[in-house]
Amino acid sequence: MGKFNRSGYCAAFSIKDVGRAVKLYGWVQKKREMGKLVFIDLRDRSGIIQLAVDSTASDNIFDVAHGIHAEDVIEADGVVRERSSKNKDIPTGDIEVEVKNITVLSRAQTTPFEISKVSGVNEETRLKYRYLELRNHEVKQKIMLRHKITSIARSYFYQRDFIEIETPILIKSTPEGARDYLVPSRLFKGRFFALPQSPQIYKQLTMLAGFDRYIQIARCFRDEDLRADRQPEFTQIDLEASFVDPDDIMQLAEGFMKKVYKEVLNVDIDIPFKRMPYNEAVQKYGSDKPDLRFGLELVNIEDAVKESEFKVFSGAIAGGGTVCGINAKRLASLLTRKEIDNLTEEMKGCGAKGLAFTKINKDGSSSSTYEKFLTEQEKAKIRRMMNAGENDVIFIIADTNRGLVLELLGILRCKLAEKFSLIDENAKPCFVWVVDFPLFEYSEEEKRYVAKHHPFTSPRDEDIENIENAPDKVYAKAYDLVLNGNEIGGGSIRINDPKVQDKMFKALGFSEEEAQKRFGFLLEAFKYGAPPHGGMAFGLDRLVMLMLECKSIREVIAFPKVASSAELMTDSPGTVDKKQLDELGIKTDF
Ligand code: AMO
Ligand code: AMP
Repeated sequence: MGKFNRSGYCAAFSIKDVGRAVKLYGWVQKKREMGKLVFIDLRDRSGIIQLAVDSTASDNIFDVAHGIHAEDVIEADGVVRERSSKNKDIPTGDIEVEVKNITVLSRAQTTPFEISKVSGVNEETRLKYRYLELRNHEVKQKIMLRHKITSIARSYFYQRDFIEIETPILIKSTPEGARDYLVPSRLFKGRFFALPQSPQIYKQLTMLAGFDRYIQIARCFRDEDLRADRQPEFTQIDLEASFVDPDDIMQLAEGFMKKVYKEVLNVDIDIPFKRMPYNEAVQKYGSDKPDLRFGLELVNIEDAVKESEFKVFSGAIAGGGTVCGINAKRLASLLTRKEIDNLTEEMKGCGAKGLAFTKINKDGSSSSTYEKFLTEQEKAKIRRMMNAGENDVIFIIADTNRGLVLELLGILRCKLAEKFSLIDENAKPCFVWVVDFPLFEYSEEEKRYVAKHHPFTSPRDEDIENIENAPDKVYAKAYDLVLNGNEIGGGSIRINDPKVQDKMFKALGFSEEEAQKRFGFLLEAFKYGAPPHGGMAFGLDRLVMLMLECKSIREVIAFPKVASSAELMTDSPGTVDKKQLDELGIKTDF
């Protein structure tokens, strides 16, 4: 018999198994010796069980047990018995295995850290020895639950007639907005493949090919600066379907979320999810991924200050910008002057020119950085518009850049919620669809319109005529799924009319020649009968991270990269031989 003849994983046994002969395999988590008694905590991917080698064991077995060290790999045969002193902390704490035979299959050197105590170890060491960190039960469970989520995804979509199709990894660059990872070609010197930022174009082509419903658990690559919720390679649950409208895709996604939450966390979530137009999200919450678990909504106070002598406010409006505020309700007694100063500095660090405030104390007295510059009416009107009263703090930001004001207050809002624990920890997961996105956004950096999502997103039918002359008035058939203030998915109905796609490329500033060169194959494909289609992609890593309440996306990836995009275990990216570079026709300057 092969090694599959283990009786079960360690954590599978309980008091019901007393008397049963078992064969177990695993790692030694801990060994304790008490005279002629040896206790071993045996660990496998399911958890831990205690092995007991006692006076009834032969000398030979005792000697083997005596010589065992932490992290040795062993095989043990024995009989399950009830423990005399029970351990309530572990699921198998009522029982132990009386060892009849024990074999060391592999010896372990002293590990760089104790597997059961990884939390105190610095991240660099943990990631360098990630395979050891992953032996830790809690760390491993995150990867096991991730597997559960992907398998639920597969079964959910398979049951709904989605078929899994693999799309290529070596491709021509797909425009998703980030930088591409490039792969040099040996046979076509000076030419490059790109790694896909998403399977977008290919999944659309599966629709043109008539597959009707596609799903892929797809690896995506984006060479962008990392944050706690971003990795340079990450995974999408990517889907696409033909003859659908946005409601079909949104309902499908809601059903999937409901199933995943129930089966993984036993949490019932309410569907359908709330939908919020993009403009409302940005104006009220200063973000296209609003966290709706707390209030602190943004208030536009232009009406109160546009005529003011105080140029910081009126000048911002005259310069095309805005003045908005947040009322930190009932937080005045908690927000000391020092705390407000710190917040001001933090906001300046994010690009604010200043953070004006009025603090209204519980006794009605107040201090303010701006009220002294305003008339009584202006002051009163702001307080009224902000619904401000005792124990409130009004924060105001003015800038000639309207988007920046909203974005900054959006950041301030989240900072306040975090600092003052305004989010109920037991609150249900808070989902919202952000809809009615603009099709384009203006890039100050590139001095042109760029696609808010990607260039294949369909405009609303009524807006098609505006694509070329009034791009800022065009809205998209796009939807993003937001969970607790994080974007966990997004998608759209796609353009399936080559004429509209052509207009889109023009509006994005591609010359006809450039569009042909980059996307000619796609434009041609649309000419041979393209079904209307649409879809979306979930960020799997982010979804798992949020479901398991992890602080970093790295915790839910088996072998993640660090902030510099390096992988510490293998020390990559690494250098390569000159011969390899020569074959690729590449010279480096470093
Ligand atoms: P989008 O670019 O919005 O859409 O990506 C979909 C989801 O993928 C996740 N995500 C990331 N997760 C981890 N690290 C990253 N660097 C990262 N970038 C994105 C997010 C995001 O919501 N092709 C389209 C989908 C479509 O239109 O069908 C796309 O890729 O959770
Ligand atoms: P000043 O007249 O520049 O001293 O500004 C008066 C108050 O307004 C100070 O408390 C500043 O922090 C605040 N302030 C200055 N610029 C801005 C701005 N762009 N937005 C909000 N408050 C500001």
